Parts: sequence; C-alpha cells; structure tokens
Amino acid sequence: MKTVLKSNNCGELTAKNIGEEVTLSGWVACVRDLGGIIFLELRDRSGFFQLVADPQINPDIHAVFSKLKTESVITVKGKVTQRPDETYNPKLATGEVEIYPNYVNVLSEAETLPFVLDDENVSEDVRLKYRYLDLRREFMLHNLTLRHKVVTAMREYLNGQDFLEVETPILNKTTPEGARDYLVPSRVQEGKFYALPQSPQIFKQLLMVGGIERYYQIAKCFRDEDLRADRQPEFTQVDLEMSFVNQDDVIAMVEGLVKAAFKAAGVEISTPLKRITWQEAMDRFGSDKPDTRFGLELFNVTDIMEASTFQAFKDVIAAGGTVRAIKIPGIAGYSRKDMDDVRNLAISFGAKGLAWITYMESGEVKSPVLKFLNEEQIKEIQTRAGAQNGDIVFFVADKPKVVFDVLGRFRLYFGKKLNMINEDDHALLWVVDFPMFEWSDEENRYMAMHHPFTSPNLEDMDKLKNGDLGNVKSIAYDIVYNGTELGGGSVRIHSPEVQKEVFKALGLDDATVQEKFGFMVNAFRYGTPPHAGLAIGLDRLIALLCRTDSIRDVIAFPKNSGAKCLMSDAPGEASLQQLRELHLKSTVKK
Ligand code: AMO
Ligand code: AMP
Repeated sequence: MKTVLKSNNCGELTAKNIGEEVTLSGWVACVRDLGGIIFLELRDRSGFFQLVADPQINPDIHAVFSKLKTESVITVKGKVTQRPDETYNPKLATGEVEIYPNYVNVLSEAETLPFVLDDENVSEDVRLKYRYLDLRREFMLHNLTLRHKVVTAMREYLNGQDFLEVETPILNKTTPEGARDYLVPSRVQEGKFYALPQSPQIFKQLLMVGGIERYYQIAKCFRDEDLRADRQPEFTQVDLEMSFVNQDDVIAMVEGLVKAAFKAAGVEISTPLKRITWQEAMDRFGSDKPDTRFGLELFNVTDIMEASTFQAFKDVIAAGGTVRAIKIPGIAGYSRKDMDDVRNLAISFGAKGLAWITYMESGEVKSPVLKFLNEEQIKEIQTRAGAQNGDIVFFVADKPKVVFDVLGRFRLYFGKKLNMINEDDHALLWVVDFPMFEWSDEENRYMAMHHPFTSPNLEDMDKLKNGDLGNVKSIAYDIVYNGTELGGGSVRIHSPEVQKEVFKALGLDDATVQEKFGFMVNAFRYGTPPHAGLAIGLDRLIALLCRTDSIRDVIAFPKNSGAKCLMSDAPGEASLQQLRELHLKSTVKK
C-alpha cells in the first residue's frame, strides 16, 4: 500500500524498478562512510536497500547522512538506479539497485542502542528488557512471521471445515486443568475472585450443549506452574471441540489441521499418523511423549530378575515394581569415572541405583550383578538387548513410574550424546488409550490424568464402579512431535451418570461438584450431544517449526522463568487504595 511516507518497501525494489521515483522509509541499519561517499543501508520489515550520498552530487544529503545514528528512522526520495558493477551484491534481493536520494527527512533520531542487535553474546535478559529492539532482529521477525502464516493456515483450514470461531471469557471460575489458577479479586463482589482460564475447556463443552457443533478459538490460557523452556504462564492454544464425533473423527480433523500448519511452514507431512497406546509408549520409550526419531528402546527384564538371586531387584518386584533395561551401543570403553557420571545421572533422574552389564570389545562380560545371574539368564538378557561386543546394558528397578521416567530420560540423553537424532526428521504420532487416573503420592489419592470431563473407556465402567481405578482407560489422545507434546484432547463424558461416577472416583462430593462445576453439570441435563475435542499448544508448535528450543522465541512479549516481564516489570505493586477497593490487605511491609 502506498502512503505519503512510503511508495515502496525497501526489500522489494529490483532492476525492474530502475528509473522510478520512489519514497522509502525505515531504520538506518548501517552507515559506511568511505571518506567521501557514504553508503547507508535502510531497513524496513521487507528487507534492506542501499542509499548513496556523494558530496559532489548532493552536499545537503551527504551532510545529513554523515551525522545519522544507526537505528534512526528516516524518509528519503529519489530515483532507482543501477548499481555500478563493483558494488553489485548478488546476496541481497535488492543488490542490483540503489538510490542517490534528493530528499531526506529524519523522522526520529535514535540514541545509541543498549546492545548491538545482531551480537550473539547479548544475554536473553537484556533482549527481553528491550524486547521492542530485539524484535528488529531478523530471527524474531522470521519467527513472528511464521507464526502468523501458520495461524492463518490453521484458521483457513478450520473455517473450511465449518467451524465457528467463538471467544470465551477470561474472567472465570476455576477450570479443571490441574495447574494453579491466576486469581483476580473482585471489587464489586467483596471477598470473591475470578480465575483466569487454564483453558476454555468448560466453555467449549457448553458451546456444544448450546448447539454450536464445531467450535475453535485461538485462545489465551493462564497457568501458574513452574516454568520451563516450553512453558509460559500465559500461552496460546488452538482449541477446538466437535459434536457428534468419536476419537477417530477428531484425530482425522486434527491431522488435516496439523498438515495445513506444517505446510504453511514449508514442511510436507503424510497422514494418517502412526498411533501407539500409552502403555506401548511407556514400555518402548519410557515416555508418554516419545521422540521416535531414534531407537534405543527399553525392554523388560522383570521375569529374568525375578528368577535371579539379586535380592534388591527381587524385593522391588515383590513390592509391585518392575525392572527395565536399555542398551547403549559402543560405550563399553567408558572409564570408571564415566560410569560414575552415568550412575549419578540416573540418580539425578530419580533412580535409587543403576546396574549394568558391559560387553567388552574383547568378548568378556563384566557387571556388578553378574554373580546373581546364571549363564542362561545372562544369555537371555543379551538376546533381548541385541547386545554386541562394545555395548552396555543398563538396568533400573523401581515403581513403574520411576523406572520409565529414569530410562526415558536416559534414552534421550544418550540419543543426543551419541548424535542419533536426525534434526531433519518430523516424527509425528498419536499416543492413545491413556489411563483415566494417575496416583498422586503427594495427595495420596487418584487424580484425573487429563481432566475430570474425559470419558472413561466405556468397557472399563465396571472397574470404575468397583474402585479398580489404576486400570481404567480413558478415551484421551495426545499428538506428539519430535518428543514434545503438541496437543491433547479427549472424548468427553456426556452422560450425567458417568460423570457422577468419575467425580466420585476423584473423591469430589456433591457439594464440591455443585460449587465448582455445578453450572456445567446442570447444563448437561438439558440435552447434550456426544462431543470431543483437542487443543494444540500453538507456541510449542511454532517453536518447533522455527527449530528453537524456547517458546519465548516465538512470543512477542514473553515472561522470564520467574513469570516476570523484564520490559514492563510486571507484576507490579498495587497501591493501598487499590488493595482497599479490592477488599485485600497487604502482608508486605512498605
Ligand atoms: P492440555 O492441558 O494438554 O489440554 O493443553 C493443551 C496443549 O497446550 C500446551 N501447553 C502449554 N504451552 C505452553 N505453556 C504452558 N504452560 C502449557 N501448558 C500446556 C501443550 C498442550 O499439549 N482443555 C484441554 C484440551 C482438551 O481436552 O481439549 C487442555 O488444555 O502443547
Ligand atoms: P548392591 O548389591 O546393592 O551393591 O547393588 C548392585 C548394583 O545394583 C549396584 O550397581 C547398584 O547401583 C544397583 N542397584 C541397586 N538398586 C538398584 C535399583 N533399584 N535399580 C537399579 N540398580 C540398582
């Protein structure tokens, strides 16, 4: 679009424009003063353009250019001309052309920046403090542009599938995603609090009761949890819900959606995606979000160890535990110190100990647990491991949750360390048949693994009613990409009876249910379609497509690991007056 200050974008002028009079505006990316002639690189969102000031030709322009600070904002007018051969830059899209401006106006003079934009040694804290400057970097522009393209493609896909985009409230009652809520005190209703949504879960289900049938939203979600590279206190979901569907329908719809998203990022994926059960994911990869770009699969040796004479393992098994193993190839040459490090790593992952068998290059077999195993058992382990000379097999014995967690992390550690991961792979898959409940040692009770509106597998209703909660499966599914949980969803409960059983299993009494989710439970009494849905973590998807480890890199204004905005200094203090109005007392001494 032409404006008074811009007839063209810097990055789009080519030899085709030679002879045209143009007006360009942008930032001064760099000024090279060659003692006479000054070359100035002008930057806008579209790219760079070379301006030249020759004191012989236009002394006024030269005088202005010679005083310009980088990152100042200017407007110039002039005719697009062919560059002489010696300054031709084939690397730049605009490398064939330049302008000797006949007009310049400094719209905004920049002070010296607090950091050099492209300096790789600048800390993230500094970048976040001056995020508006950091956004001028090509890296950030690229990421935000890709985000926009992917979101646009996802919207187009869903619009084409008859979805309605509907907004749901931010000021809410608590939602059941299991993280801590962000609370907002009410001024008007003394002593009451809103909770910011951890997801639009309840509202999207009520939209189904409301007859919307197909809903989506690019939804902001808020969760007060411990932050990591892939977690922000506020993040975005591509959230959807559908009526009159089953698991396969949602999976097919989401595969189309993900395909469109990847395509917008220039990646072709083929569908349908592989599906594995939660149990298989745990057994083979020790994780419910397996990175399947490499092998190093776990295997079960509980039966062998049970028949051995190793009391420590036998005790674990007798107490309901399991013993699993992983073969790491080619590391039999590890020194004693290397092995100590590996053991400490396992312990830092939560293991009580680490046992191993080393198959030396010489053919000798060494192990601290060899004396507890007979010849046949040693052979059987080697067969299951597919171990060859030069390999080490590691064993962990504990409760299944601990064993899988330790060996799953072990697997990732060695996969990276041994360069077994092909970064160009796109390993997308579904994990299905999640358990309905998860035992919490902390709370000493079963908790919903997904959320309490997830439908149990109806074949497991007897187990649910009889309290055999550990064996109840749910109709929940996660989509996993290169070892990251991209999204998760489930078929929902639409029968009040089933919902009642689940609340009961979770130890929620009627009064609590009414207090927390009464409006939802009541709504379901008036004609509820079977429904199901899913939410994709948009920030994670974009970060992976941008090949960055941190979702902060794809969010314009993210928080740091202390949930702080280093730029605005949020969260800030409230005045006593504000607190009084909100009926709050400050416990902080002023
Ligand atoms: P869930 O809790 O699995 O499901 O969240 C869906 C996806 O959101 C992303 N995600 C996050 N991304 C960044 N920072 C966070 N703190 C964060 N937490 C979650 C993940 C995750 O897979 N209401 C259900 C969906 C449904 O059942 O339809 C839900 O919110 O990529
Ligand atoms: P011990 O006989 O107790 O010295 O143990 C022999 C080996 O088994 C040592 O290498 C221990 O680290 C290892 N070990 C002990 N407990 C466990 C466990 N729960 N899981 C894996 N290895 C273990």
